[in-house]
Amino acid sequence: MAKGRGLPLEPSSDELHDLGGAALDLVVDFVGRRPTAPAVDLDGAHDLVDTLLAPPPEEGRPFADLLSLIGDAADVAVDTAGPGYMAYIPGGGLPGAAIAELVTLAVNRYPTVAALAPGLTAVEASVARWLCDIVGFPPEAQGILTSGGSMATFSAIVAARHARLGDDASDGVLYVSDQIHHSVAKAARLAGLPERAVRVLPADGDLRLDAGGLADAIEADRAAGRRPFLVVASAGTTNTGAVDPLADIAGVARIHDVWLHVDAAYGGFFLLTDRGRARFAGIERADSVTLDPHKGMFLPYGTGALVVRDGDALRAAHRVGAIYLQDLAPGALPDFADYSPELSRELRGLRVWLPLHLHGVGAFRHALDEKLDLARAVHEAVAGLPELELPWETELSVVAFRHRDGDDAGRRLLERVNASRRVFLSSTTVDDRFVVRVCILSHRTHRDRVDEAIELIRSAV
Ligand SMILES: Cc1ncc(COP(=O)(O)O)c(C=O)c1O
Repeated sequence: MAKGRGLPLEPSSDELHDLGGAALDLVVDFVGRRPTAPAVDLDGAHDLVDTLLAPPPEEGRPFADLLSLIGDAADVAVDTAGPGYMAYIPGGGLPGAAIAELVTLAVNRYPTVAALAPGLTAVEASVARWLCDIVGFPPEAQGILTSGGSMATFSAIVAARHARLGDDASDGVLYVSDQIHHSVAKAARLAGLPERAVRVLPADGDLRLDAGGLADAIEADRAAGRRPFLVVASAGTTNTGAVDPLADIAGVARIHDVWLHVDAAYGGFFLLTDRGRARFAGIERADSVTLDPHKGMFLPYGTGALVVRDGDALRAAHRVGAIYLQDLAPGALPDFADYSPELSRELRGLRVWLPLHLHGVGAFRHALDEKLDLARAVHEAVAGLPELELPWETELSVVAFRHRDGDDAGRRLLERVNASRRVFLSSTTVDDRFVVRVCILSHRTHRDRVDEAIELIRSAV
C-alpha cells in the first residue's frame, strides 16, 4: 500500500486484500474479546470524541493508523454486542451478517428495482417471503426490509391510512395502549396524523391492551363522527415484554373494520419457538406486523422488517411512478421501491439470508428457546428475594421488577449492578414506580452470564 499518500479510489487487488485482511483481524479480535470485555467502558470517551470529530485530511492516511482509531472508537461504548448487555432490547450482531454486508457493499447492486439486479433482489425477496410465512400470512402478502422497527411501523401506518382513510386523514383515529412503544406516536406524526388522532387507552393490570375497552373506544369515536381506522397491538412490549391479547383484538378489529398492526419488533422472532407461537396466537389475523431482525435474529443494527397481509395495499400507499424508470419492465420479483419510502439504498436481504442459510432456522429457534429459559431463571431467582417484587408475569424474555423499599432503593440497585461492568441493565417507569428490567436477547448471553447477573442482583439488594 502506498506510504504517506492516500490509497487510490480503486485499490489494486493486493491492496484490497491487505485492507480486508487487516479489517478482518480487527473483527476477529473484537469478537474474541466479547466474553471478557467490560459491559460498559466509556473511559477516555471525551478525548477520543474530540479526535474523531476532526475534519478529514486533504491527503489520505495509512490504513493501519485509521484501523487502530476505529478499534478504539468501537471499544469506547456500552457493549451492546456483548453477553452482559441485558438493557433496552439487545441483539448482539452475528458475524456472518457482517461478512454478508462486506459483500453487499462491495458488489453494490441496486436492490429496489428488480430488473437491475434480479439475483440479489431474489435473495431479499426470499427473506421477505420467509418473514410473511413465519407470521402465517397468505401468498398475496408482501414484506419489506427497513432500517429498523420504527421505519417499518411508519410504513404500516402510511399503508393503513391510505387504505382506510384515503386522502383526508383529519378525522382518523388510531388506538394503542399506554404500554406501546413511542415509535408508534412518532410514526403517526410523520404520517401526517394530528396528535389527537392517537387514542391512548390504559393497559389492564397485566399491562395489556384491553379488547373490551378498545371496542368501547372505537364505538364512542364512531358515534362522535370520527373515523377509527387502526389499532396497534404489541407482541412484546419494551417495558415488560407484555403480549396483548392478539386474537381478541383481531376480533374487535374485524367487527369494527379497522386495520390491525402488530408491533412485534421485540418479540416477533419468538414465533419460531413453540412457546412464542402459542403466546402470539392471532397474530396471523393482523393486517401488518413489524419485525426487527436486529433484535430477535441477533443481526446488526439497521435491519428491520414490515410484513403486510395485502401486499397490494402496501404498494398502493407507496408507489409513485417515474418517467425515467420507464425502461425497467416489472417482472415476477417485487420492485421494493414501490413498497417503501426508499429508492436508492443498500441491499438488506443478504445480511439476513446468509445467516439463515449458514446456521439454519433451527439454530435461531434453539437460541430463542434458550433466551426464554434464561429469563425464566432470572424470574425465579428474583421471586426468591423478599426485598424485590415481580408485579408482572415474565411472558417473553424481559423480567421487570421493583424494590419493595421504593424507587430510590431500585435506582441504587441498578447503579450497583451496572458498576460491576459485567452486566448492563436498564430501567423504566410503570404506574409511576421505578422498575428495573433484565432483557435477555443476545445470541452471546448464556447461562454463565445470567447466573452472574442473578448473583449481582442478589448482592445489590
Ligand atoms: C416494541 C418495540 N417496538 C419498536 C421499536 C423500535 O424499533 P427500532 O429501534 O428498530 O426502530 C422497539 C425498539 O426497541 C421496540 O422495542
